[in-house]
Amino acid sequence: MIKKCLFPAAGYGTRFLPATKAIPKEMLPVLAKPLLQYGVEEAISAGMDTMAIVTGRGKRAIEDHFDRSYELEHQIDGTKKESLMDGIRGIVEDYTFSYTRQVEMKGLGHAILTGQTLVGDEPFAVVLADDLCDSDDKSVLMQMKEIYNKYPDCCIVAIEEIPKEDTNKYGVISGEIIEDNLFKVNNMIEKPEPKDAPSNLAIIGRYILIPEIFDVIKDTKAGKGGEIQITDALLTLAKKGKVLAYKFEGRRFDCGSVDGFVEATNYFYNKG
Ligand code: G1P
Repeated sequence: MIKKCLFPAAGYGTRFLPATKAIPKEMLPVLAKPLLQYGVEEAISAGMDTMAIVTGRGKRAIEDHFDRSYELEHQIDGTKKESLMDGIRGIVEDYTFSYTRQVEMKGLGHAILTGQTLVGDEPFAVVLADDLCDSDDKSVLMQMKEIYNKYPDCCIVAIEEIPKEDTNKYGVISGEIIEDNLFKVNNMIEKPEPKDAPSNLAIIGRYILIPEIFDVIKDTKAGKGGEIQITDALLTLAKKGKVLAYKFEGRRFDCGSVDGFVEATNYFYNKG
């Protein structure tokens, strides 16, 4: 059973400056809901009950968001606006949030390792909140959890096809098809130039990881950008046949970029 979801949320969000000067990028709203709340709702929809958030300096708004706000609630209780708080109130009441701080920015692999203290020795999900996902039926994390239940010795990464010229923005995998939309990964490279990319199948910000990953990350040297990359750690496990890549059903918006953010905003607005 996967009960915990880790949210690396320590990054600076430099692509959204000046908006992210004092506001965490995870708190930027698509319509009236912060990106991180979409991620939390996805985790909840996949049956998870503990949200483990890796924060950093300047990220206190995240903790305040996932908490009671007595004064505000008192102000709007009994008014028409009360219902606007229903979703977040229910989340705060029914789920557990725990936090730890990443003191230095040393990459996604390092952020995930920082979360070990919250996750412990069990399989867990990872959601990068700036990849906003939507699907008609099961959430992307739910789809991945079902695959994990079938292959409990493996890590699962979500993938999608991207234009070849964009491979240098993603971790890129190659592998052998073992089921519809499911690959056993044999190679993965962090942000390769198109000429070096093993395919056009890019990892998006949804992972299910087995606890063995923590020891592997500890042994993983800094890679692309001088940072400890989760892609490099996963490659070690892929060589042991322990990484599957799943082409999910649904849509994903790159809300780490202004274009993707606008696209997501229009999509959710039109969806109503
Ligand atoms: C991270 C990962 C990358 C992955 C991407 C998905 O990169 O390092 O492998 O493809 O998330 O969004 P970032 O976007 O944080 O640079």
